[in-house]
Amino acid sequence: MLRVSRLTKTYATAAGPLTVLHEASFELGAGESIAVVGPSGSGKTTLLGLCAGLDRATGGSVELAGERLDALDEDSRARVRNASVGFVFQNFQLIPTLTALENVLVPLELRGERGCEPQARALLERVGLAARFDHYPVQLSGGEQQRVALARAFINAPKILFCDEPTGNLDGDTADSMVELIFGLNRERGTTLVLVTHNFELAGRCQRILRLRNGSVASDERTAPAA
Ligand SMILES: Nc1ncnc2c1ncn2[C@@H]1O[C@H](COP(=O)(O)OP(=O)(O)O)[C@@H](O)[C@H]1O
Ligand SMILES: [Mg+2]
Repeated sequence: MLRVSRLTKTYATAAGPLTVLHEASFELGAGESIAVVGPSGSGKTTLLGLCAGLDRATGGSVELAGERLDALDEDSRARVRNASVGFVFQNFQLIPTLTALENVLVPLELRGERGCEPQARALLERVGLAARFDHYPVQLSGGEQQRVALARAFINAPKILFCDEPTGNLDGDTADSMVELIFGLNRERGTTLVLVTHNFELAGRCQRILRLRNGSVASDERTAPAA
């Protein structure tokens, strides 16, 4: 599903070039789950953005769902993202002028698909927001906003879901229920999962843990199977 080979990212900064990812390599099969862990600034978000086709690498290659992202222009990467990828970010990233239901429908509207409200309502019900269809983000708690973001991530039936510290802005109990929803939906739909997290308990629920240190892969280990 995902093949990352010697991926390097160098940013141009005022102080000169800054290499934040250095020849990172790993592969992930369909339906697998991997946690990406490492200290702040180790390149986790950068790696996720490159794998998901949001940004372009300086060197190396990314193959996602059979497409070489590094060989595609921005429009083609957008097409692959819309067809195959779901995202959940730490800061929810909902559109403030749209209701919960409208936010969930955005990926389908981008594809020109109409008449999908029943699917969007069903997903919002699945994440426990049946009573919140017409609420705007400002009227929702952080946990509720993140559940809307999760419903939005699943509306286009993604092959792979990328989550960047999805519980980073949530308190304990809210984070726990978010985690159950992420893993529950992934299991139900057979989605491949790449999860950046600081939370070791959360990382331990993935099948593998990839550790980044200073932009390099320090280790890639299989976790003990869940009981
Ligand atoms: N657009 C950018 N321009 C310059 N430096 C960046 C940019 N984005 C990230 N960085 C730097 O790259 C490093 C890795 O960042 P990031 O991938 O966000 O790490 P993490 O998610 O592990 O905390 C950091 O030192 C960060 O300051
Ligand atoms: Mg980050």
